[in-house]
Amino acid sequence: MKVQLQRLPANVVHCSARRWLCRSVSDSLQGISEVEVRCEEFRRKLLDRKWTLVKPDAQIHRILLSTKQDQNVDGLFHRRSWSNNSTSSLVDEMIENDSGAPSFYIVRDDLIHPLMNGNKARKLDALLPFLEDHSVTDVVTCGGCQSAHTAAVAVSCSERGIRSHLLLRGEQPDVPTGYNLISTMYGNVVCVPRSVYASREEMLIRHAGLVADSGGSAVSLTDMLETSTRIEGRDGRKVAIINEGAGDSLALLGMIRLLCYLSEDYLLGKERAVKLVVDAGTGTTAVGLGLGAICLGLSWDVTAVMLADTIDQYRHKEQKLIYDFKRHFGFNLEHFSNRMDGGVVRWVERCQPRKFGKVIKGEIEVCQQIARQTGVLVDPIYTLAAWELATSLGEEEGRDGAKVVMLHTGGTLGMFGLAQRYKSHFRTLVG
Ligand SMILES: Cc1ncc(COP(=O)(O)O)c(C=O)c1O
Repeated sequence: MKVQLQRLPANVVHCSARRWLCRSVSDSLQGISEVEVRCEEFRRKLLDRKWTLVKPDAQIHRILLSTKQDQNVDGLFHRRSWSNNSTSSLVDEMIENDSGAPSFYIVRDDLIHPLMNGNKARKLDALLPFLEDHSVTDVVTCGGCQSAHTAAVAVSCSERGIRSHLLLRGEQPDVPTGYNLISTMYGNVVCVPRSVYASREEMLIRHAGLVADSGGSAVSLTDMLETSTRIEGRDGRKVAIINEGAGDSLALLGMIRLLCYLSEDYLLGKERAVKLVVDAGTGTTAVGLGLGAICLGLSWDVTAVMLADTIDQYRHKEQKLIYDFKRHFGFNLEHFSNRMDGGVVRWVERCQPRKFGKVIKGEIEVCQQIARQTGVLVDPIYTLAAWELATSLGEEEGRDGAKVVMLHTGGTLGMFGLAQRYKSHFRTLVG
């Protein structure tokens, strides 16, 4: 896949900036609020940059909900069914749907790249051009054996002629599959014993040193962002170290760009109340959406289903990302503080909480049912969790008039790794 580098938000951003300028002259007497001016400034300062994705677009489908009458079937989700109405225009849909059947909308970020998770492609959207601007030749990063992050880094680095070096935790599986296979095809994979992996930072620095060798140099992305450090050396390799999951402030920009796109008038618009639903691993995707919604002046709520950490850990991560964001991009977000005081994301438990990575009996069948009825593939670890919440909120839709919108973060290839790991759960699908 050829990915072009463009200063793209230009057409979105410049034209909305121009629109704003005209409006601000003619409307100044009618008193446009200071907040609106700040939102536009935020948008312009932040999004006028190079991106990896040529366009921020994603398909949006409407999922209609119904409840089966069969009371003998066990379990919340076995009594539900879904159908996908992806044909008519979103705006028409929303108008018609104001009095219509329960439903939710789904942003198909799972379709934006054949090999990368949607949320990984968004996280890397601003990162790869940043690395290119710093003339990086090699990237070192790490993840689990089936890491969607390492696969995404490997693919997007290859698309731009950057070498990737991926440290994967544990042993290489006998048959590489899923994200592991993609990491292996695109990047230089090294499997690392769990005991060594436990000290990630040390491990990454040591490996980056080996890659840089004597003539090159290595710098962490955090240092590049914090101190505007440029990687030294004219001829040697220039190695950038990216943390596990790429959950840095730079990752938030791709999510903000997505929100800007979704809030265009011909899509969700800026005035409509929206409940945005997403699943949270590290929580970076959710924080990017929550922060963006506030700073772009949208009355959108972001609700994230907690999958990997406690609420305190998510809140801590949220504060840290916002703090870094302010410093790295020079934003004083004081003006938005009344909306940020309680945090930018509503963190909620999954309907059936469990240890991260565990699959509960019957969930793979629900994923199969959803796939067959709607053409949308969700996985039991991440996206089923958001689907469950979107379904529950969609059934309540209309009570407060807000539209429920789920961000499908991707993870399709994760199913291959899960099938290898949870053989017995998958065997029952046939027949
Ligand atoms: C499909 C999918 N959804 C969500 C996430 C979590 O995203 P975040 O870490 O930004 O919360 C991941 C992380 O790997 C993922 O693979």
